[in-house]
Amino acid sequence: MEPGDPAAVEQLFDSVAPSYDRLNDLLSLGLHRHWKRRLVSMLKPAPGEHWLDLCCGTGDLAFLLARAVRPGGTVVGLDSAASPLQRAEQRHRQEPWLPLSFRQADALRTGLSPASMDGVVMAYGLRNLEDPALGLREVRRLLKPGGRAGILDFNRLEPQAIAARFQTLYLRRIVVPVASASGLREQYAYLEKSLQRFPTGREQERLALAAGFQQASHHTLSGNQMGILALRA
Ligand SMILES: C[S@@+](CC[C@H](N)C(=O)[O-])C[C@H]1O[C@@H](n2cnc3c(N)ncnc32)[C@H](O)[C@@H]1O
Repeated sequence: MEPGDPAAVEQLFDSVAPSYDRLNDLLSLGLHRHWKRRLVSMLKPAPGEHWLDLCCGTGDLAFLLARAVRPGGTVVGLDSAASPLQRAEQRHRQEPWLPLSFRQADALRTGLSPASMDGVVMAYGLRNLEDPALGLREVRRLLKPGGRAGILDFNRLEPQAIAARFQTLYLRRIVVPVASASGLREQYAYLEKSLQRFPTGREQERLALAAGFQQASHHTLSGNQMGILALRA
């Protein structure tokens, strides 16, 4: 499948949902939890604040945020695919006191009110959007003045970088074969394709400033393999 087609992306994540959390743990050796905690600790969500987890999937970031904004705060998890959201709802039933709600919508057309959020996060979502620049504009629209946002994803490397060779080997020799064992070869082969059209860290900073953010800085993690775009409205 080709990246950037919203209907195909929705179908892909619906089909991946039953295996998504297990494969995430396996393929990152659990490191995705560390990267997500790092993102949240950079953004410092505080009690009483209102946060949004865009492309929330099964809700990892939404749950971390919901624990941090109590008492008085709220967290919305938004995703375009129904199956990951059902899993997020199931998890919520185990911790029903957390101030969380989930919403099925496109991240480019959230339907949420402008300047309604203290913070927005997105992990492994921006790369999947039809137009990442429009995604950043929507994040900016939703933030209150001074609001912060953080976007975690693979770091798109220059092809000649040594880290890029490692990334390609990892995606082709580890990710695709491991996912194939769960019958998800095509779905995980999509990862490399989607990364090829993803802006680099510097390009993301430029797109964010063009979207109206006051500050934008891209930070790399784990030997340049992952990146966090930190934003202030
Ligand atoms: C790789 S998963 C990441 C899930 C979660 N954020 C995490 O890090 O575990 C990408 C998620 O983005 C969602 N997604 C893709 N395109 C979207 C869009 N246009 N609007 C909303 N969600 C979208 C998918 O359904 C999927 O659940």
